Amino acid sequence: MKRSAEKAGSNIVLALDLPPEKPQSLMSKSLDLLERMHPYLCAVKINRQLVLPLGLSDGARKLVNRIHDFGLPAIMDCKINDVGHTNRLIAEYYYKAGFDALTANPFVGWAEGMQPVFEVAEKMNRGVILLVYMSHKGAGEGYGQMVRDPKTGRMFPQFVVFAEWALSWGADGAVVGATYPEKIRQVHDVLGDRVPIYSPGIGAQGGDVAAAVDAGARYLIVGRSITLAEKPVEAAKFVRDAAKQR
Ligand code: XMP
Repeated sequence: MKRSAEKAGSNIVLALDLPPEKPQSLMSKSLDLLERMHPYLCAVKINRQLVLPLGLSDGARKLVNRIHDFGLPAIMDCKINDVGHTNRLIAEYYYKAGFDALTANPFVGWAEGMQPVFEVAEKMNRGVILLVYMSHKGAGEGYGQMVRDPKTGRMFPQFVVFAEWALSWGADGAVVGATYPEKIRQVHDVLGDRVPIYSPGIGAQGGDVAAAVDAGARYLIVGRSITLAEKPVEAAKFVRDAAKQR
């Protein structure tokens, strides 16, 4: 990611999210967006809402290959969240389809939860990006709840615990919503520069580029304000330049 961002002069991760359509037209629109947008990006993120209609081994793999042709990493936003043996297989499928990194939910814990995902990632030399504080309105109900450390009895916000796990598990990234710059700052206080913060929620969800970057976000995940813009290339350039000015 670091190399890609430096080479592109951009820290924008495009969330390739499109409104529902027939698979063939989803594929052609995705390829067209990639073709026009790739010079302004450091990576592309794909969601299940695209993999489901396109299929993994055929459609998504084709997209990932194209993303790689442009010299960009491909992230699968699958938010893995199950028991270990299932998580392991899910991770293997996505990595074998060519994805360089995937997202996962630390809530399931390490033993028989996230451990197998990190093992597969290490074996295949791929990345794991953990959700630490999501971008939507209700995020605080889960990620923001206070939890008790069973060893010391002290209370901590759930997301601070997740940030500490991201560090100790050796995660390759932590997702914190751009809609909560103060949470980005708190997570950055824990992670420093050791685990980069990926921040979704810019634009369409109300997050602000300057506030997110100033608080410590390294990469900005941007979807609808680019993909649904009347002029997507201009929209991508605008976000990239706004981030560069910080
Ligand atoms: P928009 O259109 O709002 O899309 O720019 C944002 C993209 O990012 C994803 N997203 C998240 N992914 N944790 C994640 O891992 C989050 O908190 C989060 N919030 C949004 C969303 O699925 C979309 O692709």
